[in-house]
Amino acid sequence: MAVQRTFSIIKPDAVAKNVVGEILTRFEKAGLKVVASKMVHLSEKTAGGFYAEHSERPFFKDLVSFMTSGPVVVQVLEGENAVALNRELMGATNPKEAAAGTIRADFAQTIDENAVHGSDSETSAAREIAYFFAESELCPRTR
Ligand code: TYD
Ligand code: MG
Repeated sequence: MAVQRTFSIIKPDAVAKNVVGEILTRFEKAGLKVVASKMVHLSEKTAGGFYAEHSERPFFKDLVSFMTSGPVVVQVLEGENAVALNRELMGATNPKEAAAGTIRADFAQTIDENAVHGSDSETSAAREIAYFFAESELCPRTR
């Protein structure tokens, strides 16, 4: 399996709970390397654009409202099979259905405030990384 990059957001609920470090530790312990990271407070326009694929869904308005409710930490993670590995570490969208030991099971209670975002495919990852980071902000990890 080739080295991949994926895009991750530590959402406002997890930042408010002060578990940014604990979540990053999960990534690091699983062998994923942070190659870009920043804290941002998303505007409605940025959050709505990011979740544009869900714009017709009933939860869209609440999702944008939640994602703009406080700062988030966005990062690019690199490693073997990074897209699927990150989704595995995150657990199911609904924390109540997330496997024990996953980030959502351990740090979230409800589907609408579920601690983390992770790209669902390599195509999404490329689009999401480019949405938040310039190529020059991605730091190669050579050691
Ligand atoms: P989705 O892409 O389906 O989930 P995931 O984050 O696991 O890729 O949905 C995006 C976000 O929208 C999800 O993390 C939380 C929110 N959401 C709701 O609030 N209610 C819902 O019923 C669904 C499906 C998602
Ligand atoms: Mg998704």
